[in-house]
Amino acid sequence: MFGTEKIKKISHDTEEKKKKTVKEKEKKQKKDKGVKSKTLEEERGIITTEKTYKKGLVSVRDIISPSSFQISSDYLRLNNLYVRTMFVIIYPRYLTVGWFAPIITESITLDVSMFFYPIKIAVILKQLKNKVGALEAQILSDHEKGAPRDPISETALRDIEGLRDSLTQGTEKFFQFALYITVYAKNKEELDLMTDEVENILGAKLIYSRKALYQTEQGFNSTLPLGNDELFVSFNMNSSPIASSFPFMSAELSSDSGVLYGINRHNNSLILFDRFSMQNANGVIFATSGAGKSYTIKLEILRSLMVGIDVIIIDPENEYGHLSSAVGGAFINISLNSETKLNPFDLPGGIGGESKAEDIIRSAVITMKGLIRLMIGEITNVEDSLLDRALIETYAKKDITPDSDLANIEPPLMSDLEEVLLSMDGGEDMALRIKKFTEGTFAGLFNSPTNINVNNQLISFSIRDLDDELRPIAMYMVVNYIWNIIRSEMKQRILVVDEAWIMMQHEDSAKFMFALVKRCRKYYLGVTTITQDVNDFLTSQYGRAIVSNSAIQLLLKQSPSAVDVIQKTFMLTDGEKYLLLESGLGEGIFFAGSKHAAIRIQASYTENSIVTSDPKQLLELEESKKEFEESLLAKEEEEEAPAEEKKPLAEEKPVSTEEASPTEEAIPTGEETSEVVSSEES
Ligand SMILES: Nc1ncnc2c1ncn2[C@@H]1O[C@H](COP(=O)(O)OP(=O)(O)O)[C@@H](O)[C@H]1O
Ligand SMILES: [Mg+2]
Repeated sequence: MFGTEKIKKISHDTEEKKKKTVKEKEKKQKKDKGVKSKTLEEERGIITTEKTYKKGLVSVRDIISPSSFQISSDYLRLNNLYVRTMFVIIYPRYLTVGWFAPIITESITLDVSMFFYPIKIAVILKQLKNKVGALEAQILSDHEKGAPRDPISETALRDIEGLRDSLTQGTEKFFQFALYITVYAKNKEELDLMTDEVENILGAKLIYSRKALYQTEQGFNSTLPLGNDELFVSFNMNSSPIASSFPFMSAELSSDSGVLYGINRHNNSLILFDRFSMQNANGVIFATSGAGKSYTIKLEILRSLMVGIDVIIIDPENEYGHLSSAVGGAFINISLNSETKLNPFDLPGGIGGESKAEDIIRSAVITMKGLIRLMIGEITNVEDSLLDRALIETYAKKDITPDSDLANIEPPLMSDLEEVLLSMDGGEDMALRIKKFTEGTFAGLFNSPTNINVNNQLISFSIRDLDDELRPIAMYMVVNYIWNIIRSEMKQRILVVDEAWIMMQHEDSAKFMFALVKRCRKYYLGVTTITQDVNDFLTSQYGRAIVSNSAIQLLLKQSPSAVDVIQKTFMLTDGEKYLLLESGLGEGIFFAGSKHAAIRIQASYTENSIVTSDPKQLLELEESKKEFEESLLAKEEEEEAPAEEKKPLAEEKPVSTEEASPTEEAIPTGEETSEVVSSEES
């Protein structure tokens, strides 16, 4: 690289100077004292050997520098590549937002650098004042002469006055803006073609560029990621037009609010998106197992928490424990022998138009009917109406009627329903089938008053420890509980239902899920539905309805058996279909309303250590966590060296170190978190 040679030359120069001074010193000292000459001789010897040694070293510079570099008047040759730099000299009066985006969406290999040189406002204001004076004088003299008015100078005057206003008020800043583009091609013809293409794209917007003739080397250096402007061709601009030069906005999936979803694979721009800006905030994710669905959602959760959105998770695989403990969320384990209880008969506090007791009870009865059907299986029409009456009576038994005040109530339990059913003609059979859930092993889960009251920005419900048979029921109950929380207090929230196909297997729970997705917008809630069972989900009418009620859709790697139904549902081209078949981890297509783009989901190192479920990485994290704790322990022991009682110290310390260690280092496993963990600092 040329820069390298320069640097080498400089260091060479300094060494020569050094030598000279050494020689001079020597001469002087020889004159003064002949004794010291020996040590100087030695010194010189050391310097030469050092130099020889350094010559034999391989530095990073040697590795990254190209093997050849040839400079011509209008292009450079970098190994086998032809390189040319262009700079922009003139901009039009108006710049539209995203004017620079077409350049980076074009399939050209290029480097772009932008330099912004802030200018002192006082200097600019003085210049503008002079300009205004001249323009006004011109207009006035034209007027006095009786000449027709000159629109050009009048427009200029208005522009300048506007700019002076905004500069003085501080709403605008002033800069010199330099924009350089370097293109890389395989041969001279291609290089000329690319240059034309760039010039045409810019020219179509009335932006004129020039090749850096006889300055190719400086041009190339200026577009290296060194922040080194060697061309210095700039244009005066205020902040608004400069801001419009931000190029990462193609496919219109970059917005200035929301969270980062991933990287647009078409052009490496960022997919920044606010799901709450769509007509609904719901999302669906479809992919095969292991494609990175949970990983993606965990990232979204982490980033949404940062912008202050509450998140509730239904986690059938106990995958979100790590994330929850890393951010101090509440982790609730629903299982037969857990201490956590949910009562499906609970009623929401009620907000807005739904605060009428009658409506609340009616919707609770409908929800409960769905749950009972999930529990006891199919029922006849006669039983259905019987169940309806029984549920209303069960509530009435606890004084919950359309006329009562729902603020101070004690909701009934499953055993109350059983009693009511027993007392009804024809209800015995159903009562018998419900008995399974009011007595014995299942009673703990379905027949106790609710004993949790979580107030946390992140709540996750784990249902991993339940039998397959009980899972849909528990999921239904949990979703219902969450639905109550959501209706009790209006807040910006996201509900994540992982492995949602568990809910879609049964008509009742699928219907409930769909009702939730359809109505949640009113409560400022976005529901994310994640599923790997794409075929079943999309052949269910409720599944399809959920998809069409979700403004955000993310497709990651698909299995060959599911890809056709996906292609039909999302109207994908054949190219997109193959892209999904061949996607790697965390790669796919992101849909937001009518727009879509190929996406790559990328986490930072810290994020990755929080969201990964790779057992190898988890073990490594566990190990480094242990190491960190041990090193802390060792340090503390060192500090308290004189202490005689070493044993109790070693036993006590780990607890305190765990509290003190930073989040990234100390990510306890999900198992460590007991039934309800709620941090005080959330
Ligand atoms: N974008 C990504 N970058 C790096 N690793 C990923 C990414 N997405 C997923 N993984 C890893 O791939 C594995 C499977 O991901 P996971 O989200 O559990 O899959 P799914 O939920 O689709 O079954 C996990 O070990 C996870 O850490
Ligand atoms: Mg998963």
